[in-house]
Amino acid sequence: MPAVSYPHRDPIFGLDLFFEGIKLLKVGKFLSRAQQRYELVNNGVNTYTQLVLGDRVIVTREPENIKTVLAAKFRDFEFSHRRKDSCAPILGRGIFTTDGKEWEASRALLRPSFARSLVGDLEVFETHASKMIARIPRDGSTVDLQELFFMLTLDSATDFLFGQSTNVLGTGEARHRGKRFAEHLSYTTSVMSIRGRVGKLAAILPDQEYEDGIKFIHEYIQYYVRRTLEQKAKRGKSVQASSKYVFLEHLAMSESSEKKIQDELLSILLAGRDTTASLLAHLWYTLARRPDVLQKLRSEVLHLGDRAPSFEQIKEMRYLQYCLNEALRLYPVVPMNSRTAVTDTVLPVGGGPVGKSPIFIKSGTQIIYQVWAMHRRKDFYGEDAEVFRPERWETLRPGWQYLPFNGGPRICIGQKFALTEAGYTTIRLLQAFKAIESRDPEEYKESLSLTLSVGNGVKVGLTPA
Ligand code: HEM
Repeated sequence: MPAVSYPHRDPIFGLDLFFEGIKLLKVGKFLSRAQQRYELVNNGVNTYTQLVLGDRVIVTREPENIKTVLAAKFRDFEFSHRRKDSCAPILGRGIFTTDGKEWEASRALLRPSFARSLVGDLEVFETHASKMIARIPRDGSTVDLQELFFMLTLDSATDFLFGQSTNVLGTGEARHRGKRFAEHLSYTTSVMSIRGRVGKLAAILPDQEYEDGIKFIHEYIQYYVRRTLEQKAKRGKSVQASSKYVFLEHLAMSESSEKKIQDELLSILLAGRDTTASLLAHLWYTLARRPDVLQKLRSEVLHLGDRAPSFEQIKEMRYLQYCLNEALRLYPVVPMNSRTAVTDTVLPVGGGPVGKSPIFIKSGTQIIYQVWAMHRRKDFYGEDAEVFRPERWETLRPGWQYLPFNGGPRICIGQKFALTEAGYTTIRLLQAFKAIESRDPEEYKESLSLTLSVGNGVKVGLTPA
């Protein structure tokens, strides 16, 4: 049975939704509107079809369907060509841009290094969190924490991946090159996200800043990859020059080519940087508006005194974990995503007038799954689904209705890294400051690129402890 259709004003190309989408992106209301659309389409179905520039796509916030796409019928679906085409100029052929056997090889190459990387080694987080905290004004004047979080996650991710940090939070010469790298990365990924949405239409206009950015980013990474491979050639098989864990040194021990290592490193950097910064930004955006949550969280952290937390201590702080879960529920960093069917197949629910029958999916159909809208469903999270209430996690054990890190074989490989960095940074901030005040009276606005961030930033004043 087909799913119900969105009642377009333009039933051929769906340009009504296309232009509405552009306006909504500008005012930061794209996701909240996408959530309301489920109510508009036939009174609350959770799967419907709509037109995207003339192509009929399936839109869903139904866990059973998402589970089918990402896990049960994993092989029936791949990334959309739009995504691959838009990412390829920057990311080449790494874990983020490949499917099938090639992706399997990437995953097998990267996973063991991730599994080994973090055990007990939190030094990289300490180094960069302390630099970030030193930059926060102690006289209560306004600071944008989101900007600092983006600097922090770039510095720590590059340190962990290349063995050398961009050091944008630091001082000295290297900082300027790091800053340029950061600027190029932000610009090229924003272009990548636009191209992913509108396809080849965006590529019609030449964009020198984009081309220059890609060149700079590739040269920047190439330098570290070549240096490590040269060390390997000199020392034989082992390249572990550093006492700390360096991801690149582990990759270099495989027989992968220079280009392959570069593509994988850049993919991980992109996957890991904005995402963790966005989680921290949304959590602290909320803490600035919820003194009750802030105080409860501080009281959990304070028994550490000034001491840095260990990996186990972070994991044991239950209220902290609930707050991270809740921030990812209300503000999932990847709020919508998609896959394309590569064969004729079936989704289990969403067809027919009340959305309960299976839906036939023709090969080539795109499935857009909306995690933001799913995470705010009242039938899963109750009448207060829109409220930040960490205590709900005392009893909540969601399955596929909670999906901040994706699920199935392509589940996020950096989940542990991200939650540890976000937890660590939050603890260090709570030890250093006892109160926080929002300096932004406006209501929440989304900023949607490849990932979600806070549209107005996180402008706050902090009181030292
Ligand atoms: C709060 C932080 C993070 C969130 C919410 C998050 C979320 C996600 C999501 C939703 C995906 C699936 C994307 C897709 O298949 O379309 C993903 C994949 C991935 N993530 Fe994360 N991520 C986070 C942090 C990180 C970090 C810190 C790293 C690495 C240091 C990382 C590395 C990756 C990689 C390599 C993939 C691709 C996995 C594959 O395709 O097999 N992520 N992440």
